[in-house]
Amino acid sequence: MRTRKIDRLTVEVYESTETLIPAAARILLGQLKSKPRSVVGLATGSTFVPFYDFVARHYMEEGVSFGQVVTFNLDEYFPISRKSADSYHTFMWEHLFSRVNIRASNTHIPDGEAENPSDEARSFEQNIVAAGGIDLQLLGMGRNGHIGFNEPGTPFDSRTHLAMLTESTINANAPLFSETTSVPVRALTMGIGTILDARRIVLIAYGSEKADAVRKSLAGGVTADVPASSLRTHADAMFLIDERAAEGLPQ
Ligand code: GLP
Repeated sequence: MRTRKIDRLTVEVYESTETLIPAAARILLGQLKSKPRSVVGLATGSTFVPFYDFVARHYMEEGVSFGQVVTFNLDEYFPISRKSADSYHTFMWEHLFSRVNIRASNTHIPDGEAENPSDEARSFEQNIVAAGGIDLQLLGMGRNGHIGFNEPGTPFDSRTHLAMLTESTINANAPLFSETTSVPVRALTMGIGTILDARRIVLIAYGSEKADAVRKSLAGGVTADVPASSLRTHADAMFLIDERAAEGLPQ
């Protein structure tokens, strides 16, 4: 692993996902070990399938309990039924929540069935504040540099809101959808401001399909055109990437 600093951001480049995933998962496990009542911001997407698998298989031997952990997920499609095979609600229960000793009442995911999405967004923000704010926020990254569902152009001070997905995001996520349904064109997402309020942020990206987004986030300017570049303004943020995702970065 090699480390570099870009503005305030620490970038760790791992040889492969075999070393990246355990290192990333151990950041979460370490957080929960040092503060059992942690408030954690969670992410979804294929990036996090091996991550949650590692966490679920190793948390007990690491002496970690999810008994007091409070979670807030970044985003959810809208509208979508919680029970849908394609909802992020289903993703979280399948890949993590059903496999660890977390309390369902301590988990929060924006409600894709909400009657009024603005009310849902407002109460989601209030719940984060009431929980004491997010200690550690996990993030993946879209191929266009989006974080959560904050597409290019979203202001850095945005709060939880109903977002329109871009065509590139819809196309990227379509293969993950069951054949019978098409990808919703909207989603409820934490805003970039909500994400940047977290005390610590860890973004994970691997594979050559993320190389362009990594290059734009780290080698270009800090700009709303590349939402992930906002992490360079944060006091305690990290990018954990593999060599393939790093291939567009200047040496
Ligand atoms: C979706 C999610 C993002 C995620 C991105 C990348 O758009 N809203 O939070 O980071 O996909 O997904 P993947 O990990 O499948 O590449």
